[in-house]
Amino acid sequence: MYSAVIVLAAGRGERLGGKTPKAFVDLGGKVLLVRALDCLLGFPGFKWVQPVISREDLDRYAALELPGDPRLAKPVIGGAERQDSVAAGLAALPAEIDLVAIHDAARCRVEVADVARVVAAAERHGAALLAAPVPDTVKHVKDAVVISTPDRRACWGAQTPQVFHRALYAEALEKARADGFQGTDDAQLVERMGAPVHVVPGDPGNFKITGPEDLARAEHLLAREGTAP
Ligand code: CTP
Ligand code: MG
Repeated sequence: MYSAVIVLAAGRGERLGGKTPKAFVDLGGKVLLVRALDCLLGFPGFKWVQPVISREDLDRYAALELPGDPRLAKPVIGGAERQDSVAAGLAALPAEIDLVAIHDAARCRVEVADVARVVAAAERHGAALLAAPVPDTVKHVKDAVVISTPDRRACWGAQTPQVFHRALYAEALEKARADGFQGTDDAQLVERMGAPVHVVPGDPGNFKITGPEDLARAEHLLAREGTAP
């Protein structure tokens, strides 16, 4: 199949705080978005790499030192919600793309081997995502009271990339739009159509930089790698 990846970087990073939008925050001398692009361009299966940024960040993007790879497309402008940004990215892909991966720039250190595994799974099954086992016992809570405790072994933390046959994802996105449904990830749009989404065990190191503690953790990991023998 002919694959592309949409790289989502149009959020504001409110939980991270600070003045700089999250995707443009520096981590060890490189901004998160550039790190994510480097990782994704490392996978030769992607024929098109589509960044999605906010209009307010056009100048910031133009000032980046970007990888000189012809597969890196011009950025498109995202929307108010993550799902709107995905839609903008999807609309920008060439017609011949029939497999689409969606990735958060905030997961800036995804391994190429994991990307390859989730792409292969989606090619075969139609839909797949990377996910990591959840270390804590998960509680389903309503009004500060526990409703139930799902079996921890059956709980996985969804990561990205999430990868889909383009036609399946486009249909799921259209249905979500028609129903006024906003998902926090892409797989759930496909799940609600009743289509199976395959889980590919990923690396806990592919965590999303959400709050300051995540950035500190990423800095720590990077520093440790830098001093490794
Ligand atoms: N994203 C996007 N467009 C939006 C919202 C989010 O492209 N309208 C992207 C973010 O840039 C990020 C990814 O989706 O790479 C995951 O979202 P999240 O971690 O929530 O990032 P932000 O929305 O930027 O952070 P916050 O929710 O704390 O404001
Ligand atoms: Mg957000």
